[in-house]
Amino acid sequence: MHKGCTVWFTGLSGAGKSTISGLLEQRLRAVGARVEVLDGDVVRTHLSRGLGFSKEDRDENIRRIGFVCELLSRNGVIAIVAAISPYRAVREELRDRIPNFVEVYMDCPIEVLAQRDVKGLYKKALAGEIAQFTGITDPYEPPTAPHVTLHSSLETPQESADKIWATLERLGLVSFDRSALAHQRI
Ligand code: ADX
Repeated sequence: MHKGCTVWFTGLSGAGKSTISGLLEQRLRAVGARVEVLDGDVVRTHLSRGLGFSKEDRDENIRRIGFVCELLSRNGVIAIVAAISPYRAVREELRDRIPNFVEVYMDCPIEVLAQRDVKGLYKKALAGEIAQFTGITDPYEPPTAPHVTLHSSLETPQESADKIWATLERLGLVSFDRSALAHQRI
């Protein structure tokens, strides 16, 4: 059993939003839930193609994603979003507007991210080759009251996914037989 809802991951680039949202998607599909993932990197090649990284463009990107989430979730789908979404005000606007909105803060120290630098973007940003890079030369406003906070430098991806699952159960948004998950090994 599940309800339509929006699970919104916010956090810096490379913090693990895409990884954990993919894992959550797999788990939910394994128990038969209807799920869609909207990933910032992918959305920017379709729905938000042409938008840049100014505050105005980022807010526009987030509002577009929010609009799609509203349509999906009111039709019983679990919409999962993985986008930096650095500005608190627009996140709160969506949180107030979209029913069953769950804010997931993907926390990770910037030193760890710059060290990992999976996409090589931190190196470029620190060298001044990318303007307005979140956390380096552009702001990131952490949520003040997220429904759950994940620490990707301290937890395994499985532990993070478990925490979200427990949050969704606590909020009454999912209730599944755990044995169905146990034998799937996800
Ligand atoms: S958001 O700020 O509008 O929410 P979004 O999640 O869609 O951002 O896109 C972030 C991705 O765009 C990053 O993971 C990175 O791959 C890429 N990117 C390119 N330029 C920047 C930048 N200046 N700041 C942050 N991310 C950037």
